[in-house]
Amino acid sequence: MHTPAPYPHSRPRRLRRDAFTRDLVREHRLSPADFIYPVFVLDGADRREVVKSMPGVERLSLDLLLPVAEDCVKLGIPYMALFPVIDQSLKTPDGQEASNPDGLVPRVVRALKKEFPGLGVMTDVALDPYTSHGQDGVLDEHNYILNDPTVKILVQQALTQAAAGVDMVAPSDMMDGRIGAIRQALEAAGHVHTRIMAYSAKYASAFYGPFRDAVGSAANLGKADKKVYQMDPGNSDEALREVALDIAEGSDMVMVKPGMPYLDIVRRVKDEFHMPTFAYQVSGEYAMLKAAAQNGWLDHDAVMMESLMAFKRAGCDGILTYFARDAARLLRG
Ligand code: PBG
Repeated sequence: MHTPAPYPHSRPRRLRRDAFTRDLVREHRLSPADFIYPVFVLDGADRREVVKSMPGVERLSLDLLLPVAEDCVKLGIPYMALFPVIDQSLKTPDGQEASNPDGLVPRVVRALKKEFPGLGVMTDVALDPYTSHGQDGVLDEHNYILNDPTVKILVQQALTQAAAGVDMVAPSDMMDGRIGAIRQALEAAGHVHTRIMAYSAKYASAFYGPFRDAVGSAANLGKADKKVYQMDPGNSDEALREVALDIAEGSDMVMVKPGMPYLDIVRRVKDEFHMPTFAYQVSGEYAMLKAAAQNGWLDHDAVMMESLMAFKRAGCDGILTYFARDAARLLRG
């Protein structure tokens, strides 16, 4: 980097003096095409439930989700990410409902792709909405989350989603070797176009709390945590090893999660691998900004856009965010 000539020759404020010059020299930009919109879907019809800890977010049945999908198309948001709210009566220790071809997720995928073929649909590969204990995998007699038996079930879940026509599967479970196993199974079944976005560096974070309320896994999980498979927040080099493995195993894109507190990880991943890199601005990040805005302590639209811009600046190609529609609307004026 060259050393600028000292003041008064250099006056960095020259470039900040007016909006048109700031526009000209801005290094990063946000567009509605940067966003993936996560939604919570309920079984049945004409059902709408607010998520108390996520103001502005609702759980919706398919009929009420369709207008939301239409809105995404109109706004230029390229993808929606589906998270199912599974009836307690369908939850089991092994989460077998996750592989039911007529389950909620496959039905919603088929309907969305039929109505809006131009809208990308992404599904979560993980067992936590389906397990009676709220963990992302199956347990042994000491309640340890078993890796290889879980991967076998995740493969079936991903195949079920691919058969329903989903555009992209996103394993969020953090089991070892699952990307490779899923990729191999997809190829063997002829699903050669199904993309995989790996939750590669997913941390054991307390910022997921409101999400677990939203999908209804919080009560199942109780006081348990996910530290034996999700990453330790104290680690950074380990994130690079996780990303390297997922790329080697066949992931098309990688993700860091949570977002704002982990933008250092995004930057390292982008610089090291030059892959399509995403981050998830998770439920707790959304909740804290919303809560402060509702109290009049922060300017809602300003902090929303500033936080999203920070993801781009850190090296993200796109962002999973509950603000997607609000931000896209603002960007469209
Ligand atoms: C579960 C999953 C979680 C999120 C996405 N997929 C929660 C968890 O790991 O407990 C969190 C998303 C959010 O907090 O917005 N596999």
